[in-house]
Amino acid sequence: MSHSDLPRLVVMVSGNGSNLQAILDACACGELPARVVAVVSNKADAYGLERARQAGVPAIVLEKFKDQDRRTYDAQLAETVTAYRPDWVVLAGWMRILTSAFLDQFPNRVLNLHPALPGTFPGTHAIERAYEAWQKGEIEKTGVMVHLVPDEGVDVGPVLGTRKIIFRPDESLEKFEDRIHKIEHDLLVETLKSVLTTKDTTSYPKGKVHEGKP
Ligand code: GAR
Repeated sequence: MSHSDLPRLVVMVSGNGSNLQAILDACACGELPARVVAVVSNKADAYGLERARQAGVPAIVLEKFKDQDRRTYDAQLAETVTAYRPDWVVLAGWMRILTSAFLDQFPNRVLNLHPALPGTFPGTHAIERAYEAWQKGEIEKTGVMVHLVPDEGVDVGPVLGTRKIIFRPDESLEKFEDRIHKIEHDLLVETLKSVLTTKDTTSYPKGKVHEGKP
């Protein structure tokens, strides 16, 4: 397959972009037969943009104005992303809830990474919240997942891949976070590899939530 025939990924980030880096690296070494055609961020200072530039990938900032309505912003975002003709849109640390004004433009083509198991710790600070729950003796394991984003639900949707992670006695939050991030880098690349060969994701029932529990 020539470089220009490879599946096209638009990666959306709001921060550090270590997961974006995992994708860029996997594409560069041929492990992931795809190419990142653009990186879009809602934050001008997201380090992920710098990672994109260093990889020679267009780095686009689209910030929401304070008084701008969410749907108007999302429609603009969809237009920006559409211009890069993505086969897949990957939310890798994208920390805004997307409305149907965006999602309807890419049905069954938007993937999200979340550092928790299906049905647990949706939203921000999932890793810290899971760690706290473990310290209180409420849980023994957590995990990471990649799922399709069918609607405005927060970190829910048809699950494409998960990894369970067991807490280790005496592990600091910092060490635990590092371990989670390494595992999510791996899971994201692996899941992308498998979806790239799936031409038809409509077989994933729209909106159905996998009921997995940690
Ligand atoms: C990752 O841990 C990702 O799972 C999480 O943001 C982090 C981004 O890290 N996403 C969510 O919490 C989505 N609700 P990165 O910028 O280094 O890739």
